Amino acid sequence: MSTRAVRQSLKTSELLGVPFVPVREEIASAATSPETPAEATGAADPPSAPGSGSRIEALEALRREHDAGCPHCTTVTGHTQTVFGEGNPDADLMFVGEAPGAEEDRTGRPFVGRAGQKLEEMIRAMGLDRGDVYIANVLKSRPPDNRTPLADEIAGCAPYLAEQIRIIEPRVIVALGGPAAKFMLDTATGITKLRGTWAQFDAGGLVVDVMPTFHPAYLLRNYTRDTRERVWADLQAVLTKLKSE
Ligand code: URA
Repeated sequence: MSTRAVRQSLKTSELLGVPFVPVREEIASAATSPETPAEATGAADPPSAPGSGSRIEALEALRREHDAGCPHCTTVTGHTQTVFGEGNPDADLMFVGEAPGAEEDRTGRPFVGRAGQKLEEMIRAMGLDRGDVYIANVLKSRPPDNRTPLADEIAGCAPYLAEQIRIIEPRVIVALGGPAAKFMLDTATGITKLRGTWAQFDAGGLVVDVMPTFHPAYLLRNYTRDTRERVWADLQAVLTKLKSE
């Protein structure tokens, strides 16, 4: 095992509190698109991974279309800007959260607050960097008082997420937390029951494998060994799937 892999393994046990679990380098690299550089951006920086031009353009066009026409985001008040999503447009792996929080609303970037730092730890524990993956939310504007998104808000905004997914064509999506998992799996079942079992999301012609897991904010609130082991098991299943296909 290389020094990098050992470092990752040690980091993994440190971050997720599981026994020494090596991240196999060949699995980690399988999660990265061929055109993605091995060493990606720093954790706090906006990803600068090169993507295919057509995907970048399509995402930019979708962003404009969303900001001008999303039935939810153009009518809701109380947020300062929309948070479209960011990352490698050619990513094999996509993370979908619930909605922007205060820090995301301030910066216009997904998962940059405390939950975002935890998500970055999870991504690094997988042997990846933030710039290797694409990160988005079900809702692209912050709900008032940070409350859970309502069904009609999701109905208005989520079609743009589906289009985002059709453009990126990830092989695997990790649904972070109850609202994202319930939306993607079209179910009322809670995340505790859903997590750890593969499901699929039909993005409208493109069906993508989905692994539901706990939201990093839940991990922060429930930082038990058991919770961390469950999340780590889910992420390992994702790595195995990416490697196997
Ligand atoms: N929580 C989310 O679900 N999404 C973010 O972007 C930040 C926090």
